[in-house]
Amino acid sequence: MPEREIGVIIVAAGSGSRLGLGTPKALVPVMGVSILERALRPIFGMRSPAQVVVVAPADQLAEARVLCESVAGVAGDHLTVVAGGSTRQQSVAAGLATLDESVHTVLVHDAARAFTPSTQFELVASAVEETGAGIIPALPVSDTIKQADAAGAVVRTLDRSELVAVQTPQGFPRLELVAAYAAATQEYTDDAALFAAAGHPVSIIDGDVLAFKITTPWDLRRAEGLAREAGGGSAAVRTGVGIDVHAFDTDSPLWLGALHWPGEPGLSGHSDGDALSHALCDSLLSAAGLGDIGSRFGTDDDRYAGAHGDVFIRETVAILAGAGFEIGNVAIQVVARRPKLAARRTELEARLGDLVGAPVSVSATTTDGLGFTGRGDGIAVIATALVQRSR
Ligand code: CTP
Ligand code: MG
Repeated sequence: MPEREIGVIIVAAGSGSRLGLGTPKALVPVMGVSILERALRPIFGMRSPAQVVVVAPADQLAEARVLCESVAGVAGDHLTVVAGGSTRQQSVAAGLATLDESVHTVLVHDAARAFTPSTQFELVASAVEETGAGIIPALPVSDTIKQADAAGAVVRTLDRSELVAVQTPQGFPRLELVAAYAAATQEYTDDAALFAAAGHPVSIIDGDVLAFKITTPWDLRRAEGLAREAGGGSAAVRTGVGIDVHAFDTDSPLWLGALHWPGEPGLSGHSDGDALSHALCDSLLSAAGLGDIGSRFGTDDDRYAGAHGDVFIRETVAILAGAGFEIGNVAIQVVARRPKLAARRTELEARLGDLVGAPVSVSATTTDGLGFTGRGDGIAVIATALVQRSR
């Protein structure tokens, strides 16, 4: 199993008293999907996959675990769900204790910031890796901020140009954050304050309006509006493209489109050289913005050595589902002199349609004798996919 260098601790153990629904906030649904599930999707959608630690309410641990595992899908190998404490700081500490040794950058995130996009996690992580400092996303303050006393009298007006409103994910080098937590003797308002108190530098990067925290009933209405927008309309539909090429290898059997083709020369490659299945997977990952087959299925991962196309397709479909995407269709064109696809096209489309859970069409062409496919050195496959965000 490849090791993960980034760890994301997502704290979800709060009671949500200001939301006032009597349910832990992370389990409150927004348009039918819980806040925790919405918060997890972009994390599993990061380009560099992370170890994910969910800190859940102690009395709802089993329920939270089922929910998190369903979002993680095949990434469940790198998911841990632990019980939180009575303060946010204790909850983060519980999460920190479960990080793998391989993790060198930790991102601490509030589940309540459920709409934070994947890119924000990536930006914070890479800024930590570049600088070695604590990195926190922040937005300018738009209201004038005043300090008032207990009786309501204004004491002073703060200089707004010096103020920022801070969000999560906040990122830190793991060893320094673990040591800072171990040394902390009081409660801090955020992880960056605790980290800074231990003498470490903290810098800000641009925050994202989508990373707002669902705190009050008004915030929940805003969240419902966003979920409604994302669930419908043309902006939710996305296309992707994937291309793969493999050379013929006459000594091996041909596997193409997760089918065996007896009597045909095989294809060379790390797995079984099934260019059709690989292009299909790339088109789906491309459409969802989830990287590509190379970044998702490492060539150093023994589980994929010699694997047939169905393994990659099933896992890709699960990755998309975990990140909240439904597949519309996939269209594939094979560019090759052989095999002749016509006789098995129906079987091929049915097999791929079953694996993908959506219509897959396959067409074929030659290149009039031109180029490597024309000479019969190998085959090329081009795939396009249409996906849409589920609710
Ligand atoms: N949190 C936690 N453990 C706690 C308290 C808070 O894991 N003991 C988490 C929350 O689940 C949330 C994040 O920290 O994702 C930010 O906290 P906040 O928005 O204050 O959430 P709650 O504490 O649940 O809400 P409230 O303060 O209104 O009760
Ligand atoms: Mg709280």
